Amino acid sequence: MKRTAGNEKGEHLSMGAPAKAPDQRPELPDFWDKRFDQGVMPWDAGSVPAAFARFAARQPRPLSTLIPGCGSAWEAAHLAALGWPVTALDFAPAAIAKARAVLGGAPVDLRCADFFTFTPARPCDLIYERAFLCALPRKLWPDWARQVAQLLPPDGLLAGYFFICDQAKGPPFGILQKQLEELLRPSFTCIEDDPANDSLPIFAGRERWQVWRRHASSSPV
Ligand SMILES: C[S@@+](CC[C@H](N)C(=O)[O-])C[C@H]1O[C@@H](n2cnc3c(N)ncnc32)[C@H](O)[C@@H]1O
Repeated sequence: MKRTAGNEKGEHLSMGAPAKAPDQRPELPDFWDKRFDQGVMPWDAGSVPAAFARFAARQPRPLSTLIPGCGSAWEAAHLAALGWPVTALDFAPAAIAKARAVLGGAPVDLRCADFFTFTPARPCDLIYERAFLCALPRKLWPDWARQVAQLLPPDGLLAGYFFICDQAKGPPFGILQKQLEELLRPSFTCIEDDPANDSLPIFAGRERWQVWRRHASSSPV
């Protein structure tokens, strides 16, 4: 799916209302570029969240990992230091510039690309989620679920943090546990679910650490 600043469906135009500026539309890179450029990043932990660090430490082998919507890429730097193969991607050039500075010389495959049209150069065992699904307007959630299911092999893992609440205005856009299950259950089983205990204020009390395993045989959503 290609997202552009133009109003392809003409929805706003037909109503006589002006279309939103690109930097007011979180489905476009302009929205995120503006926030990175201005240093307004209330989602940016500046470190690796604890449950994810514990999860990585207990894996018996390195997992080939994809981090969509990586932002500053703190977790990618951590995994690369553990010797894991990591692809980190973001569609906002300003996020990629920040990630490049955080990563320094770390061996991470850093890509400026749209998750919805991205084809990884290597198969991935793990997709790490943090503040990416909740950055997406709700209309994109079925596409997100389809893409994570397509990118992971049977037994592949989707692990990370989910913003579980009914916050309609975003980003961050809240998702109810029931809605998340409707998106993921056709292709995944939830194998871990715990409250996060080191959330930033913007997510506090509403963030859960979850691990979902790809079914051996099922069709994507
Ligand atoms: C709220 S930030 C979270 C960044 C990072 N995951 C973190 O935890 O700090 C959301 C990020 O997703 C990126 N993003 C949003 N939609 C995207 C898409 N379709 N493809 C790739 N990146 C996307 C944005 O540019 C932004 O950097």
